Amino acid sequence: MEFDLVIRNGRVITSRGEISADVGIKGENISAIEKDLHGRDEIDAAGMLVLPGGIDPHVHLQMPVGETASSDDWFTGTRAAACGGTTTVIDFVEPEPGDSLHAALEKRKAEAIGKAVIDFGLHMTITNAETRTLSQIEGMVNEGVTSYKTYLTYDGFKLNDAEFLQVLTTVQESGGIVLVHAENDAAIAYLKARLVAAGKKDPAYHAVSRPAVTEVEAVTRALALAEVAQANLYLVHLSTAGAIQAVRTAQMRGVHAFAETCPQYLLLDERELLRLDFEGAKFVCSPPLRSAIEQPEIWEGLADGTISTVGTDHCPFFFKGQKDLGRDTFTKIPGGLPGIESRLALLHTFGVRTGRLSLPRWVDVCSSLPARIFGLYPQKGALKPGSDADVVIFDPEKKVQLTQSILHENVDYTPYEGFQLTGYPIITIASGKVVYQNGDFIGAAGSGRFLFRQKGDYVS
Ligand code: URP
Ligand code: ZN
Ligand code: ZN
Repeated sequence: MEFDLVIRNGRVITSRGEISADVGIKGENISAIEKDLHGRDEIDAAGMLVLPGGIDPHVHLQMPVGETASSDDWFTGTRAAACGGTTTVIDFVEPEPGDSLHAALEKRKAEAIGKAVIDFGLHMTITNAETRTLSQIEGMVNEGVTSYKTYLTYDGFKLNDAEFLQVLTTVQESGGIVLVHAENDAAIAYLKARLVAAGKKDPAYHAVSRPAVTEVEAVTRALALAEVAQANLYLVHLSTAGAIQAVRTAQMRGVHAFAETCPQYLLLDERELLRLDFEGAKFVCSPPLRSAIEQPEIWEGLADGTISTVGTDHCPFFFKGQKDLGRDTFTKIPGGLPGIESRLALLHTFGVRTGRLSLPRWVDVCSSLPARIFGLYPQKGALKPGSDADVVIFDPEKKVQLTQSILHENVDYTPYEGFQLTGYPIITIASGKVVYQNGDFIGAAGSGRFLFRQKGDYVS
């Protein structure tokens, strides 16, 4: 068979293990994984790791927040993702009051199409449990949206327990899965008000207003409600040892719970918030960075399977002009960190090279499990004949010092400034085309497609 492109001599790593083989690509798909393949174009990957493209299940591109919006749009954000070895992102639809879910989906798709450089899916955000909202969910599943984002905090978004149960039940009956941002809203409001009244307004008080217990309580409650509703549940951006323990215990009881963490909770801690000259604002996100004491348990959860995925929760804001909005008080700092480009490399250096994660587990949490849970496998997250030809060639020995100027994110800082990495993506192939090579983006705006997602593999 004549291939359009063959990746030769690499170490092919999938969630199942490692083999030495060539990867043959025809058009937009993988056609063969075998030895001694030849094609019209060939890439010699000797000494390199060859992986399925990364899947980031949690990003916020051009997301409106108060009077501003996250600074990466669908072009710059997906470009940065591709340059970091991520070939699929899943973002969110946030319906405006009065919009049907269908209309909101179409609007969000229209923002992305023509700009996205890699394929993308969309989770639908549900902010109420009114019959007119819930009755539209089944139809959305038939439009390729099989996951539903809920919040237990944030004004305008939060659901109470009764509403959350109703959403869990409806989504479960429709064959989808609920995602939840779980923090205790009342406790946070109480603490915030007291801190502000006491004149405690520096960025570091953001974390004081959202202590670990507010996550642990809400995660434990969300798990209990999922158990009552016998529904699948995906807990986003877990940041505490207590939450991981609650997930582990619930999974042992048979609750269908999946957990996500993010590089920032594995690698950064609350001391960053104390940086002088308002620089702590660069690290304001929710849930907040925690004490470093939390981190070993999160790594352990990632290694032992309690945590299924690493998403970035990429939600960038410029330090100058956006984070600045909260100079007078932490309550006005737009919350969120950049990170879409560095996920694979950070997890390689601090997960694989430290011995915390095997290579297949690294691929699983960054690619295959997000694909499985969100109904994209084996189109995505796999290197199999018929899968989309989304492939990363990763040099496991390449030394890189992370700094904002080498990244392609549209933001004026990286929270990982100065991090020393060993291992970095050198080529990213999306739908059979090389879109990134040795530091440069060479793809095209608009080549990313909306992904019609199926029910997830693990969704009962
Ligand atoms: O602070 C954060 N994480 N902002 C993005 C929205 C969210 O809660 O995930
Ligand atoms: Zn969140
Ligand atoms: Zn988020």
